[in-house]
Amino acid sequence: MGTIADLAQKIERLQGDLAARLSEASDATDIDGLKVEFLGRKGSITLLFKEIGQIDPSERGEAGKRLNELKRHATEAIEQKTEGASDAELKRRLSEERVDPSLPGVYHSYGHLHPLTKVQREIEFIFMRMGFDVATGPEIETEHYNFDALNIPVEHPARADWDTFYIDDERLLRPHTSPVQIRVMEQTEPPVRIICPGRCYRRDTQDDTHSPVFHQIELLWVEEGLSLAHLKYVLEVFTQEFFGEGYDMRFSGDYFPFTEPSVQVHIKAPDADDWLEIMGAGMVDPAVLTAVGYDAERYTGFAFGLGIERMAMLRYGIKDIRAFFTNDLRLIKQF
Ligand code: PHE
Repeated sequence: MGTIADLAQKIERLQGDLAARLSEASDATDIDGLKVEFLGRKGSITLLFKEIGQIDPSERGEAGKRLNELKRHATEAIEQKTEGASDAELKRRLSEERVDPSLPGVYHSYGHLHPLTKVQREIEFIFMRMGFDVATGPEIETEHYNFDALNIPVEHPARADWDTFYIDDERLLRPHTSPVQIRVMEQTEPPVRIICPGRCYRRDTQDDTHSPVFHQIELLWVEEGLSLAHLKYVLEVFTQEFFGEGYDMRFSGDYFPFTEPSVQVHIKAPDADDWLEIMGAGMVDPAVLTAVGYDAERYTGFAFGLGIERMAMLRYGIKDIRAFFTNDLRLIKQF
């Protein structure tokens, strides 16, 4: 038979033990371990309760009271220590993870538009301000839109000027944006005032001014009473807006199957000696207007096609067209 005095001794020892161990515990894991060790299902305090049965029945009430007190003390001590530990942990993190606003920030580089996109948009805006709409057409074209409807029949030698990549017997990668003229005219009645920006393809060997993939902007204006003088005026406005004041402009004769007359447009910078060819243009051939169902006696029109790369090269002084397509950030970042 155990006595209450024995039990009291054990209680005292356990309490001392727990206090000592708690003071050594340094983090939540240690404390959790102690909780299991003392208060768990097989914990030393829990086991002590089992000894009540061996104590003299007259003292069992007192024994139970003391054990409950021990259990309460132990629970409180562990809780206190837990709180203390999380306080300490919080303090440690607050001091270690403090934000120092005086440190330099993390630098994120922002993307920006490709120089070709910038130039394309700039040209679009110039013509949009003049009242032109932007139209687009497919890059995979049919022979019909790319050639026949533009007055370039099969076997016509001019087809060689737009030698391109064929997908099959009927379909090809468009070598110019002129087929968009036809697509738009088929869908609308005059007046037509559009520009058509887009990617084009040609069987050109790459060099510093040729690329098998490039971009054009087409312009088409069809209405009653238009003449070459209107074309010249539109081009003068464009040159002034895009390149600046003081440029000279001249036309020279050229040939395109879909315009008559056809011209090559040249400009000269105020302080330059040389003329630069900037685009092919002309009055829309009446045969083209007739083929889309327009009354060619009543309506006239003009069109041009300009290369976006060429405009960007002139604008930025870039000498090699390949610079636009090699994605070298050292170049791209300059714009
Ligand atoms: N499509 C012609 C080319 O790519 C350019 C052009 C367009 C000429 C419109 C006249 C009229 O060479």
